[in-house]
Amino acid sequence: MIKFLLNDQAQQLDNIDPNTTVLDYLREVQLRTGTKEGCASGDCGACTVVIAEGTAQNNLSYQAINACITPVGNLHGKQLITVEDLKNGDTLHPVQQAMVDNHGSQCGFCTPGFVMSMFAYRKSYDKPEKESIIEALGGNLCRCTGYRPILDAAVKMFDPALDDQFTTREPEIIEKLAVINNENLTISLTNENKQYFAPTSVEELAELMIAHPKARLVAGGTDLCLEFTQMLKEIDCLIYTGQVKELQTIELSNDTLTIGAAVTYNQAKSLLVDQYPDLDELIERLGSYQIRNQATIAGNVGNASPIGDMPPVLIALGAKLVLRKGDVRRTVSVEEYFVRYKVTLLQTSEFIEQVLVPVANHDYQFKVYKISKRLEDDISATCGAFNLAFAKNADGKTIVKDAMIAFGGMAEIPKRATHCEQALINQVWDKATIKLAMTALANDFSPISDFRASADYRLKVSQNLLPRFFLECQQAHLQSPATSIPVRLTHHA
Ligand SMILES: Cc1cc2nc3c(=O)[nH]c(=O)nc-3n(C[C@H](O)[C@H](O)[C@H](O)COP(=O)(O)OP(=O)(O)OC[C@H]3O[C@@H](n4cnc5c(N)ncnc54)[C@H](O)[C@@H]3O)c2cc1C
Ligand code: FES
Ligand code: FES
Repeated sequence: MIKFLLNDQAQQLDNIDPNTTVLDYLREVQLRTGTKEGCASGDCGACTVVIAEGTAQNNLSYQAINACITPVGNLHGKQLITVEDLKNGDTLHPVQQAMVDNHGSQCGFCTPGFVMSMFAYRKSYDKPEKESIIEALGGNLCRCTGYRPILDAAVKMFDPALDDQFTTREPEIIEKLAVINNENLTISLTNENKQYFAPTSVEELAELMIAHPKARLVAGGTDLCLEFTQMLKEIDCLIYTGQVKELQTIELSNDTLTIGAAVTYNQAKSLLVDQYPDLDELIERLGSYQIRNQATIAGNVGNASPIGDMPPVLIALGAKLVLRKGDVRRTVSVEEYFVRYKVTLLQTSEFIEQVLVPVANHDYQFKVYKISKRLEDDISATCGAFNLAFAKNADGKTIVKDAMIAFGGMAEIPKRATHCEQALINQVWDKATIKLAMTALANDFSPISDFRASADYRLKVSQNLLPRFFLECQQAHLQSPATSIPVRLTHHA
């Protein structure tokens, strides 16, 4: 059984197909049709709803998510708020009123999704900031109104003080959620021959993985749910990692950032960016805000897609994974984890428990470049991560002491560019070396052509990242010799 609140009303579900998405549950079971289906793949934001959860500070955090790619079981212990809940009696919510006043809606199809993203933003910020509003609305598409009136509404919604019904009811909701979360309940769903489990401890997860060797793990579901919404596959057994307390932690020690497998991008971002400022833009461009509220780094690795953005970063940084099967753990490098297309080292019943990212070593310069057609919410054609260490030789010239370079989108797996690295190591850091390294890169990869980019483009643009990295390093040295590079990236090299 799972329990959650739909607005302030307690719900419990037992006998429902675990492949049901929150969107289908809302529209088909609850007949709440305000939440729309546009793409059913996390791309348009029409299905945006808000999830509220109790925090350690004894308040609620409000997060916008895509209902179309969230399995209904993931709602356990949370408050689900939809567009129908915003109005208070006959009075529109300040967010809705701002949309009316600023002419933020024409056909109205996208409006509930925008309103819910804006609502989550309003509940999370004291005052509007243009950049963070654009980030919060980056996953909502509107094809007729145009974005300016919507952005105006997102600023104007801060004019009235926010003493809405949600603020008034917060203590009551926190109490109700605490009761659900403290119950000694086996969180599961069963329907005919399908099952869903949400273990709360890592031991329970390990046992379930042994007991159900064919089960599929689900974390944020932002990759996995496409299997039911796009490929129309049926998954018989799902095991959710998001309730496992040990997997929700992120710890910084002297040498390692240890990221639990259920930690989302938005939770990990600030610590990752503190270490590697260049990840700021990459993470901002990874999916949309809704996606990053749910998606995990472990899921990005677990999905083993050749075009995932974090694997090349993790490989270039020398990151490792803690894999666990039953009581047995092993640590492997992210580089060796990927074997061939969608085949990894992971054995049956084994799972990723933690991602271990080395802390920044200031002898190294790290940069990552995502090449995609659009700046926001787009999959990479290629993504190159560079992590180089430099030293001075006897003549006082800068030489490359070490080079870790990895690419996504260039092979069937995310992969090191070893020929390119060898062309750089122990060589003088100058334009001639960069030229040789560009040629060597062609020996590392034979990319494919697909609808994102041609093979020629992929290779050329990846080669061109080398002089770009070189120039940006020169610039950074001029500005500040020992620190990492404070240069904002654009999406095309
Ligand atoms: C609209 C949209 C935009 C996107 N944009 C990007 C993008 O720009 N860049 C990018 O890289 N990706 C992108 N993605 C893909 C996806 O969001 C990421 O890969 C994300 O990190 C997956 O994490 P998740 O927690 O949602 O994984 P899930 O979907 O829950 O799982 C993905 C896979 O990993 C496995 N898995 C999950 N947890 C574990 C574990 N602990 N151990 C072993 N296996 C595990 C699952 O079984 C599944 O096979 C996008 C997806 C969508 C829908
Ligand atoms: S329907 Fe498009 S993001 Fe969910
Ligand atoms: S108002 Fe028509 S799609 Fe946005």
